[in-house]
Amino acid sequence: VTVRRLAPAHQQPATFAFTAENEAWARQQLTKFPEGRQASAVIPLLWRAQEQEGWISEAAIEAVAVMLSMPKIRVLEVATFYTMFNLEPVGRHYVQLCGTVPCHVMGALDLKEVCRRVIGPERQVTADGALSWLEVECLGACVNAPMAQINADYYEDLTPERFEWILGELRAGRVPPPGPQNGRQLSAPLGGDTTLTDTSIYDGASRSDTAGDTREALTDVGAKRPTVEGSQQDTPAPSSQVAAAGAAEGKAPGTAAAVSAVQPTPAPQPEPMLPAQDGAVPASEAPGTAGTSATLMEGPHAPQGGDIARGAPGRSPRTPGGGRPVESGGKTAEPRQPSQTSDRGGEVTGPDRDVGTEEKP
Ligand code: FES
Repeated sequence: VTVRRLAPAHQQPATFAFTAENEAWARQQLTKFPEGRQASAVIPLLWRAQEQEGWISEAAIEAVAVMLSMPKIRVLEVATFYTMFNLEPVGRHYVQLCGTVPCHVMGALDLKEVCRRVIGPERQVTADGALSWLEVECLGACVNAPMAQINADYYEDLTPERFEWILGELRAGRVPPPGPQNGRQLSAPLGGDTTLTDTSIYDGASRSDTAGDTREALTDVGAKRPTVEGSQQDTPAPSSQVAAAGAAEGKAPGTAAAVSAVQPTPAPQPEPMLPAQDGAVPASEAPGTAGTSATLMEGPHAPQGGDIARGAPGRSPRTPGGGRPVESGGKTAEPRQPSQTSDRGGEVTGPDRDVGTEEKP
């Protein structure tokens, strides 16, 4: 069990302020919530503060509390509860090494030794500011154990030698390809497929609706790329990390060149949603979209009187607003756009099934 406390006083900056760009972004977030509910933006704002500074200082917590008209203690509770918030300075490349049982038995102990030798003690940033590390609990990639998360990317199937090489590359300003490091495709068996090896079942020939589809199957070459930070897909925000990375390579802070030092490869953009064809299921009612709710509630288990949870009239597949969930203010919420690309496969995934509001703290 880790006790999460704020960094010691000597590490705390005296003040915190969002950059003008981040301030504008934060103010825009507040408009997403009804009057009096601005506290719901606490996690996005803390996350933005962390993206700007690399970690959450006490001054940042106070600034967010003021912006959201919240007691400081409530923001502190959120920041100390969620381990995604760094409560102390971290390196430009922050290594979170999984030490839970599957990774442990597959060699995480050896990786810890690499961290101690190459980076130094846990939670300590190297003198050049490039690296720091922390042992964490399971990161959900056990089938690719042992693994480590470095910034937003997973490096899997690690060996001590490969891990040390990766750390060296990062320190030198180069970003090695994330994902499995032993040559296998994603989580597929090492050495290739052992079942479903008849390729004719994948070429579309057996399906009349995909006949002639010559698209290539997903490969690691296209699938694994360093991930663009989540909110930077929303609004780029030069951070101290980006500036430092650019400066380290002699590039002007905030320039595209400096940004590319941290993000060498942009993530693939989601494909645009196509208009519904005759006879096709409209996008707003495709499985997993907001529009599905009314249709889902049509079955034998639909509640009497309609979809109580979403406030939509029951037993009608065509509710006003196309079956979209209704917000408390009577406003229909837009269904989510096609979601971000996945760093686990590069595929464009469909809209999240957890629909209704855009972001929930
Ligand atoms: S145990 Fe390491 S990712 Fe699950």
